[in-house]
Amino acid sequence: MNQITWRKQMDLQYPPIDDEHQAFMKVVNKAQEAAQKDDFMCFDNIFEQCYEYARTHFPHEEDLMERISYPGLESHALSHQQFIQNISELRQTYNRAKTLEEYRYIVRKTAHFLSAWFLGHILGKDRLYKPYLVRLRHLPPRMNYDSE
Ligand SMILES: [Fe+2]
Ligand SMILES: [Fe+2]
Repeated sequence: MNQITWRKQMDLQYPPIDDEHQAFMKVVNKAQEAAQKDDFMCFDNIFEQCYEYARTHFPHEEDLMERISYPGLESHALSHQQFIQNISELRQTYNRAKTLEEYRYIVRKTAHFLSAWFLGHILGKDRLYKPYLVRLRHLPPRMNYDSE
């Protein structure tokens, strides 16, 4: 897969979230590049950054959805859970790899998964709550804490 470039449709016009999405796009592109170069060891760090993204961005987004009463929160949170599950499975296979072929297989599979997931999730799911972000303007200041 090719490197992903930021497109207009990915933009939620909400910097606290857009910044996190763009930072994760760089991780996804790094995975793609490392897989092409057979840089297997780089994936140790890439998996860590995936977990970090799940630990920080997912709760951030779900909390935001709650504040704007986004009706799709429940199924969206499930999709985040599924990502964690998928990454954990890929990481386990990566940890068990011993031969060159096994490493090559798992890093390519991981890079492919990350690119496909990023595009599918951001364009297919994250984009859906964009129209609800206008509600932030009507929230009391204490509930509008991460808007600029
Ligand atoms: Fe999301
Ligand atoms: Fe997101």
